[in-house]
Amino acid sequence: MKNGRVLILGIETSCDETAAAVVADGREILSNVVSSQVEIHRRFGGVVPEVASRKHLEMLNPVIDLALKGAGVSLGDLDAVAVTQGPGLLGSLLVGLMVAKSLAFVLRLPLIAVHHIRAHVYANFLAHPRVNFPFVALVVSGGHTDLIYATSHSDFRLIGRTKDDAAGEAFDKVARFLGLGYPGGPAIERKARQGDPTAFPLPRLHTSGDFDTSFSGLKTAVIYRWRQAQERGEKVRVEDVAASFQATVVEILEEKAFAAVRAFKVPTLLLAGGVAANGHLRERFATRAQAEGVKLLLPPPVLCTDNAAMVAAAAYYQFLRGDFAPLTVSADAGLPLS
Ligand code: KG4
Ligand code: ZN
Repeated sequence: MKNGRVLILGIETSCDETAAAVVADGREILSNVVSSQVEIHRRFGGVVPEVASRKHLEMLNPVIDLALKGAGVSLGDLDAVAVTQGPGLLGSLLVGLMVAKSLAFVLRLPLIAVHHIRAHVYANFLAHPRVNFPFVALVVSGGHTDLIYATSHSDFRLIGRTKDDAAGEAFDKVARFLGLGYPGGPAIERKARQGDPTAFPLPRLHTSGDFDTSFSGLKTAVIYRWRQAQERGEKVRVEDVAASFQATVVEILEEKAFAAVRAFKVPTLLLAGGVAANGHLRERFATRAQAEGVKLLLPPPVLCTDNAAMVAAAAYYQFLRGDFAPLTVSADAGLPLS
């Protein structure tokens, strides 16, 4: 506690970012340090789990040091240590959890185990002065495409998910196929800016009644259409493929998210996760929200991708209700939301 405020150290190592942050009262970011491994994994075209955990081991302590220094606090000022318990890469999660447990044990502080997808949602609590329940949240990341209905801090229900690839995963796979590099989302977004989304027609959304999504068929359609065009000697611009693919993914996400908002009769829609950094997605959702009278909340792009400030923010509400983890808690690569 410092100046009457609850200070939480957040730690995030679920995938390929080693991150630590200090957040006051679940709202004010005092520091937010992210050490990205993108350059290391780029040469493999994707995250290599074994390499990721080794890099977390090497980077986590210096990253925590930087976060404390950046916040101008010492370990003794902290009220709790929060860490991502899952879902994510098991070896990577274990590194964060081990360090968080050691700190909590030595400092005699409560340990707070945070769900990674919930943490993404809480990026919005950092970015906006007021977030009112109930809301629907769409978390679109490299591993998840989750639609969540939340009525309170302790009641988050998963109402839809991807049946196959996550949206970010589809971006990454299509980018790799097109030779655009890793991570695929930003690479496709850059190419799409010079593309015509109607020049490379892809199958449109096949709407089913539920809130689940599917991107694997779309990815296959891109590959099939591309090969077909090559065989026929048609000239296809990568920019057009990127624009068409991006537009179709966003259309699918938009349909499902707004259908959920209507079905659950909520006034507010939250977006979160790495794919929510996509400029086209942000614009489309903003336009649609305005047309439908829905309040749309989005974190700034730096809080969309993996970071530890969102972990500390989510942990604050667990802190308030005394939801602490024992030091025996284990990492869970497939941790369910509720
Ligand atoms: O949330 P996140 O940082 O990590 C996970 O929890 O997975 O999301 C990473 C995903 C990657 O698939 C990446 O390609 C995608 O988010 N992404 C984007 C953009 N920036 C990151 N996808 C589309 N457009 C972007 N600008
Ligand atoms: Zn994430």
